Amino acid sequence: MRVLALDGVDQQGLNILEKAGLEVTSHATMDEEQLKEVIRDYEALIVRSGTRVTAPVIMAGKKLKIIGCAGVGTDNIDISTASEKGIVVANAPEGNTVAAVEHTIAMMLALARNIPQANSNLKQGIWERKKYIGVELRGKTLGIIGLGRIGREVARRARGLEMKVMAYDPYVDSEQAERLGVELVPLKVVLKEADFITVHLPLTKDTRHLLGKEQLKLLKPEARVLNVARGGIIDEEALYEALKSGNLAGAAIDVFEEEPLTSSPLFELDNVIVTPHLVASTEEAQRAVALEVAKDILRCLNGEPVRNAVNIPVIRGHLAKVLHPYLNLAEKLGGFLGQLMESPILTIEICCNGELAQYDLAPITNYVLKGLFRPRLGNDVNYVNAPLIARKRGIRIREKKSRDMDYYANLITIEVKGRRESHKLAGTVNPEGTPYIVNLNGYSVHASPSSHMLVVLHLDRPRLVGPVAMVVGDQEVNIAEMQVGRQEKGGEAVMLMNIDSEVPREALQEIRQVDGVLDVRYICL
Ligand code: MLT
Repeated sequence: MRVLALDGVDQQGLNILEKAGLEVTSHATMDEEQLKEVIRDYEALIVRSGTRVTAPVIMAGKKLKIIGCAGVGTDNIDISTASEKGIVVANAPEGNTVAAVEHTIAMMLALARNIPQANSNLKQGIWERKKYIGVELRGKTLGIIGLGRIGREVARRARGLEMKVMAYDPYVDSEQAERLGVELVPLKVVLKEADFITVHLPLTKDTRHLLGKEQLKLLKPEARVLNVARGGIIDEEALYEALKSGNLAGAAIDVFEEEPLTSSPLFELDNVIVTPHLVASTEEAQRAVALEVAKDILRCLNGEPVRNAVNIPVIRGHLAKVLHPYLNLAEKLGGFLGQLMESPILTIEICCNGELAQYDLAPITNYVLKGLFRPRLGNDVNYVNAPLIARKRGIRIREKKSRDMDYYANLITIEVKGRRESHKLAGTVNPEGTPYIVNLNGYSVHASPSSHMLVVLHLDRPRLVGPVAMVVGDQEVNIAEMQVGRQEKGGEAVMLMNIDSEVPREALQEIRQVDGVLDVRYICL
């Protein structure tokens, strides 16, 4: 399998891919046309923020399974197209936190003390002291917009610099902020009161121009703003106007609406300091993000859950181990039902009982859906796009969970309903991690879901199992296991057979002719 790495992704990450037997091609960067041309040969693509992975590129990536971003921001990737195509998008959210935080603090100090301007003057032979009188950080208020992983670490360091820290983040509770020594306030308060304002948010349609003309008007004339997060969060034109008219004391900008950028009105202002998107550019961070993303590429190509996917529910650390057998069970139960169901599915109910109920059900749902749709959609469906497919088809999904346990320590029960048909299947995982089907449409069974299975619905009467087994045997198909479940003596019953290979259609027809057999289905998992 082949991996294309662009934007100078660190070699240490690429090494582990090569060691795992993947063929890695590395390039500086590529534009849309070049990328469209070559991407069809690759199963994985790794980029940093420098390459735009557009919808046409993704559509051309016929073999593409994962797009890895060696950094936090994924706004350069068309995630909705990737999701529709079932391509995982994964980032590296941890590796460059320290680099981003330190760059923020470095820019804040440089801005406060006019270091870049003084440096550039002195190198031109100008000894200027008066012009570059700065301000101290101690006692000043830092306003952080976005108190996520990076914002929080900026807050901790700012407290160390004896700054007062306030923050705006609607997703953080005040107790958490209090522990950091940060006052949570509305956005307007940050804008009106802070001496330094720094944004630590992703670029989305909601955060684009979050600091626009109107918001910048609220700032104090002595305030200074920083953007080392993503270009576009601050409106560059409005920022230029605010700085030029003296409504703002200064700005430190590392990221721009268009990149690379070599000329801008902002560059002409002496109270603006700039760096060319260096936020994550430390040796340590580049090594760490490359390793982080490479590990997810390997997980994805090996069919394992991806740790830092941004377009599917993420299962981290210990949880991945705990959930893995249940995901396997969920997919098998889904696959079983997807083959039993002959008419279009209208509703799906997924119920998790027992110890499973403590976890987020989203990954289990994705695997059930992938299993359910696979028989009809084949490889066009995977656990990334399965929920989108369900939504597009108007299928209603209900997730239920309960800690109550009956006979099994954990149980996944799935009920699918169509207009005239419905099926219910329940399964569990034993302590060794082996999945079992324990109930089918109300019949208790204990069958391991295997590659080839026969489901025979029949009357509960003697001289039936033998003739059915004879038809299977006549096809030279070996029966590995067999289970019979009934609700009441002499009523209807179900026979679940694990067989070693496929049974031809004609043989199924023959089984249907056996006296007492009501229906038979071949299931391939
Ligand atoms: C990030 O989002 O982590 C960085 O901006 C990525 C980069 O340095 O290209």
